[in-house]
Amino acid sequence: MDNNNGLSQKALPIKDGVFYTGAFDPDLRIFDIVIPTENGTTYNSYFIQGAQKSALIDTVKLSTKDQLINKLSGLTDISKIDYIIINHTEPDHSGALHLIKDIAKDATLVYSKNAHHFVKHIIKKDYNNITVGDGDSIDLGGKTLQFISAPFLHWPDTMFTYLKEDKILFPCDFFGAHYCDTNVFNDLLADKDAAFEAFKYYFTHIMRPFKNYALNALEKLKNYDIDIIAPSHGPILRKDLKKYTDWYIGASQASIASEAVKKIAVVYASAYGNTEEMAKHIAKGANVSGLTNVTLLNLVNTDIKNVVDTIEDSDAVIVGSPTLNAKPPKPIFDMISSLVMLNVKNKKAAVFGCYGWSGEAVQMVQDILKSLRFVIVQDGLKIQMTPFEEDLLNCEKFGMDFAHKITQNS
Ligand code: FEO
Repeated sequence: MDNNNGLSQKALPIKDGVFYTGAFDPDLRIFDIVIPTENGTTYNSYFIQGAQKSALIDTVKLSTKDQLINKLSGLTDISKIDYIIINHTEPDHSGALHLIKDIAKDATLVYSKNAHHFVKHIIKKDYNNITVGDGDSIDLGGKTLQFISAPFLHWPDTMFTYLKEDKILFPCDFFGAHYCDTNVFNDLLADKDAAFEAFKYYFTHIMRPFKNYALNALEKLKNYDIDIIAPSHGPILRKDLKKYTDWYIGASQASIASEAVKKIAVVYASAYGNTEEMAKHIAKGANVSGLTNVTLLNLVNTDIKNVVDTIEDSDAVIVGSPTLNAKPPKPIFDMISSLVMLNVKNKKAAVFGCYGWSGEAVQMVQDILKSLRFVIVQDGLKIQMTPFEEDLLNCEKFGMDFAHKITQNS
């Protein structure tokens, strides 16, 4: 059952023979269960009719399939679609694939080599397919689809599709945004500033971990004459393209440049101010001029989005947790649960905290971080009751040791 039946059911022309057939999901507030999206999202799909053949670029999330089917039905006989191009296989774009393929029985599926084993598990029966990469193309009759390999932007199977005659790039999630405005085109949006913020937020959370791949792709794209960028989420970009590409280049380069100085996030919760006192001295010790950059965040009064951004952007994390009822308190669990979508593999970490009776939280947090694939680089530091001057000097040493480990062994 489509949850957006009140929305436009008509395809939107982009150029002659090129249509937007995507789905709107304006009420979504958390994407993939974890990424906040204040303005919903869209699952963009495109239909291209050439003189001889037709192609559908991506499908939509399963729950919005009716929007895609209604839009396509108004344009063509779905059973006669010749090609279904799969720019990557994540379920927000391939969720309705098996249903469309059931109707378009003779359609050939077109995707990258890396996508093959994913697609096999989506379709689960024999089907026609072509695997493509850089330099490959398909002629629909006056509409030539060229394929550009773009692995890890942001899945291993990602590729871009370029429609040569109309100079339209379909770059999968690259240049995407979780932003729903049914006017679709970036020059027609009701709130262009909010959409640009969503564009930046999307890059920061989805693409920035793959910044080197992003720069490679941006370099490749210099060989293509592009008038329109039609991504998999959010607005179609047909005005001020340079603003978007320059921002991507700048953000990718800035992220790479900032890696020279190691970033350390010291995040803590404190019930009586004792763990906070430890945190301040650990941060002081970890701050080594020219080598490290330390951000100190109190989880109790910091927006969780800011905490996740900071940890994502950091090379290493030091977590401070008091022990309440033999466990870490809720702000620590909230923070940890928000990290599950981040790529934290091999990120360095250490744990500290004050306690009254027993101090189990430090070991528990350490174990959880380890299970999330953080690397614990030194034993946790626990202080019972109020830290004295000697304890606080020990905290500074704990911070210095940590800084030394992440700057020497990175
Ligand atoms: Fe929007 Fe990576 O799927």
